Amino acid sequence: MSLVDELNALDSRVADQIAGACSTHELEAVRVEVLGKSGELTRHLRAMGSIPKEERAEVGKLVNQIKASVEEALDAKFRLLKNQEMEVLIDSSSIDITLPGRAQHLGTRHLINGIVDEISDIFLGLGYSVMEGPEVETDYYNFEALNAPADHPSRSMQDTFYVKDLSGDVANVRGESDVLLRTQTSGVQVHAMETQELPIYVIAPGKVYRRDVADPSHLPQFHQIEGLVVDKGITFGDLKGTLEFFCKQVFGEQRRTRFRAHYFPFTEPSAEVDVSCGICHGEGCRMCKGTGWLEILGCGMVDPNVLEMSNIDPEVYSGFAFGMGVERIACLKYDVPDLRMLLEGDMRFLRQF
Ligand code: DAH
Repeated sequence: MSLVDELNALDSRVADQIAGACSTHELEAVRVEVLGKSGELTRHLRAMGSIPKEERAEVGKLVNQIKASVEEALDAKFRLLKNQEMEVLIDSSSIDITLPGRAQHLGTRHLINGIVDEISDIFLGLGYSVMEGPEVETDYYNFEALNAPADHPSRSMQDTFYVKDLSGDVANVRGESDVLLRTQTSGVQVHAMETQELPIYVIAPGKVYRRDVADPSHLPQFHQIEGLVVDKGITFGDLKGTLEFFCKQVFGEQRRTRFRAHYFPFTEPSAEVDVSCGICHGEGCRMCKGTGWLEILGCGMVDPNVLEMSNIDPEVYSGFAFGMGVERIACLKYDVPDLRMLLEGDMRFLRQF
């Protein structure tokens, strides 16, 4: 049989196969057999170079014609079979095409990031800038430069995760490493005073770590937002005005705030700020443990020692600082009873925010 006869035979055989295909699946098998990588027609096309010159033009033309007509026939048959298959699917009543489609769930911001952004926006609106500090800190920034006395309980191994110092320079006098996971964002205050030009108006959100077992009101890792202002003539009145404005922005105009005297090593005087309970409005309930108030942050005037340690003259400059737990704010704002719910990743919980 000559090559031309062979090709013509192939053409009519393939036409029969295409006509005989009963499903798109079968049709695909025919396509692969003829036009696939090692399909019959593909092999003929590849072998073109070894055909005697005199025959090449004629054979080449024929192969291309067959290829074009096979492709066209495959195409037409595919559309026909596909339509039939769809009709069967629809008829078989297993699909109700009148049902609304299933929407894809898009991810959203986590509640914690939402609160960090919301609080950052409030302070950005007041002219503050946002700063970050390292989560792996040295004892100096986390404690010493913040006036934390050597016997301060927060320095103990029970409260702080100490990290082995790779330089081999491991332990200080108390047998602790000088490198630790920061227990508070307050160390960023020191970085700010060392690196920024005065006056300083910054907030610093970030993760902090403590050796606590997770329970409804403790987590071993959580988020804080630190605030620091250092300028000429800053008073406690500025601190109160700023934080009262902040509380109303976050919790709503009706909520009242109160400042309670407290102690922090790096501020003097220091205070804790409470906001009136949003559930009982001050009457006393389980949420506020009968007091009518919920504690939301710590604050105070920057201790002159702290300014001095960072080479700022306390005779010329004064400042205030504050720090809050983001998870706690989230729980108070949305009446979440257990901090751990924020970490569990339960979509039924997270979708509410
Ligand atoms: N760092 C404190 C803590 O973790 C919170 C705090 C209190 C931050 C008073 C401050 C401050 O900046 O002035 O408990």
